[in-house]
Amino acid sequence: MQDSKLDFFATVAEKSDGASLRGDYADISEDYVVKQNWAAYTAEEHALWRKLYQRQAALLPGRACDEFIVSLNALHATDGIPNLEATSKALFEATGWSIVAVPGLIPELAFFTHLANRRFPITVWLRKPEEFDYIVEPDIFHDYFGHVPLLFNPIFADHIQEYGKGGLKAMQLGGLDQLARLYWYTIEFGLIQSPEGLRVYGAGILSSGGELTYSLEPSSSRHIALDVERCMRTLYKIDSYQETYFVIRDFKQLFEDTAPDFTPMYQRIKQQEPLPANSLLDGEIELLNT
Ligand SMILES: [Fe+2]
Repeated sequence: MQDSKLDFFATVAEKSDGASLRGDYADISEDYVVKQNWAAYTAEEHALWRKLYQRQAALLPGRACDEFIVSLNALHATDGIPNLEATSKALFEATGWSIVAVPGLIPELAFFTHLANRRFPITVWLRKPEEFDYIVEPDIFHDYFGHVPLLFNPIFADHIQEYGKGGLKAMQLGGLDQLARLYWYTIEFGLIQSPEGLRVYGAGILSSGGELTYSLEPSSSRHIALDVERCMRTLYKIDSYQETYFVIRDFKQLFEDTAPDFTPMYQRIKQQEPLPANSLLDGEIELLNT
């Protein structure tokens, strides 16, 4: 095995108190891609997928943004764990993106390289029944249900590619912590304005039974307009619902506000203390409590 791969597994073990990554990394290619082996999923796994799908789909109306709901319905992924190759073909025709199957979490360099080349990595394994409500590492349900529909939206799809390029650059500039916060608060946990009120576009919320409801309750957390630099200064919670949700006007704003070169921003942010997850700064307005 290459040195870079051994380093990756060693770092994971160090960060997670000796635990190894979930997933089968035995047959990974150079860029951590594997075969999905769709025929190997069991009837129980397909049944669990259907249960997860039905629970989430019932919660979407009035909560998820319209773009997400329309694209999700067009995927016809209700019957069982989807075949990634088939989805990849449809996605490529729509926005020029492909899907690649991966065994689980992959190193930043491989992840950003895929995104920068319009390839979205999706984990092949599904959670266990006892993890129905909560799972630590992303599984195929989170990756597919949460992320794939918006890759059919041309502006959002372009944004994710730019994010991948930005990630490769951040690795050179020492800006990964800051960029990870932006990813967390937008692509994973972002909210968007709509004429009918706030809606969800973040995959972490859309694939979570509890947070899809919680994130839109006025009393639950802070809801403030996205300011990219402020967002990149803000710490986030990985083991509880978010204490702050950042709201965009539309996907065009997300694309445009993240287009500038982040180099000076990274330098400014590094000279400041990070903000706690529940901060409210002078002049910031809580969107759901006004
Ligand atoms: Fe995700």
